[in-house]
Amino acid sequence: MAGLAWDHGAVWGACDPAGMEATLRAARIPTRLSWLAASTRAHSLDEVAAAVRRAPLALPDATFAVIAHRRGQQPFRSPDIAAAAGAAVIDAHRARTGRRLPVGLDSPAVVVRVELVDERLRIGCELTAGSRHRRRDLMRRHRAGLNPAVAATLVALAGWDSGQDLLDPMCGAGTIPVEAARAARREPPPLAVGDRLDALGWRDAGAAAAAETAVEAVRAAPGLAITAVDHDPASCDATRANLAAAGLAGAVLVRRDDARRLEGIASVDAVAANPPYGLRQGRSRELASLYEAALRCVSHRLVPGGRVVWLTPAHRVATRAATAAGLVAHGRRTLALGAFDAAACRFVRPRT
Ligand SMILES: C[S@@+](CC[C@H](N)C(=O)[O-])C[C@H]1O[C@@H](n2cnc3c(N)ncnc32)[C@H](O)[C@@H]1O
Repeated sequence: MAGLAWDHGAVWGACDPAGMEATLRAARIPTRLSWLAASTRAHSLDEVAAAVRRAPLALPDATFAVIAHRRGQQPFRSPDIAAAAGAAVIDAHRARTGRRLPVGLDSPAVVVRVELVDERLRIGCELTAGSRHRRRDLMRRHRAGLNPAVAATLVALAGWDSGQDLLDPMCGAGTIPVEAARAARREPPPLAVGDRLDALGWRDAGAAAAAETAVEAVRAAPGLAITAVDHDPASCDATRANLAAAGLAGAVLVRRDDARRLEGIASVDAVAANPPYGLRQGRSRELASLYEAALRCVSHRLVPGGRVVWLTPAHRVATRAATAAGLVAHGRRTLALGAFDAAACRFVRPRT
């Protein structure tokens, strides 16, 4: 979407604040989104502070906090950036309004985001509040479970449309199928946008009401074709429990099966998978053989032009296996999973 830039799980939007809520809801972005107030270069904390003072943040008189991220070889750390930027925000606000902006570290109304990647500096306000990483109704977590924001991203990357068949061949506790069913019912992505927009005075009541009407219309729509498979009975039970807790029982067919066999599944349009990474077992030959067999099986069931998204830190192993299975690599996106990054590898079944 025009005006949006991805960077390691964070998305920056250079859009007009007035249309931001409609943009957010239409884009269904399942990750943090910040409004980009300024983009420039900085090599020192003084330059960061000067850029923050110049940035057109125009914050309301409400509690604020700064979240800073840094990547690169700088001789200072993220908390140093947060401290310098926080002081600069207070200076700029006092110069503009004559008042001191209160800091609110526990639950700030406004979060200023400052990101320095090498020498590129981005300054803005977070528009998404709370953690997208938790759904209150995700009752049972798999020990290697995804956060719902990543699961929703995989569904989006698979280019799945709710009229098509979607398969998660290794579903664990069902985070991917739950997010797919939510997306099909046009439920909001797992992040609250309203509170931050309210605090900034950017709330668009019309957009919110239109979105609610759309949600109701799609909720009433008939069945979906989402299948979730796992060879572990406890994982199948956890998926069913999570679907039921989310009010989505019946929206997904849950089957106990081996992803290397997939009996009873004739054809699928899209696959979103979060296979084991081999990190615990550390046996790379076993991982390669699982990926080869599962991707071959998936490939045989994909319609021509069908898409696979395969999330793994072992993207070379996955790409080799997919190519051997007759799939064509179609780019990959790095997603931050907390302790490490993984690649969402996209593969396509050729049409001929
Ligand atoms: C990383 S976990 C998936 C976690 C899931 N995305 C979630 O958020 O809960 C990988 C899953 O693959 C399943 N699995 C591993 N080998 C499999 C196979 N051959 N067939 C089916 N499922 C398999 C495991 O039982 C495990 O539940």
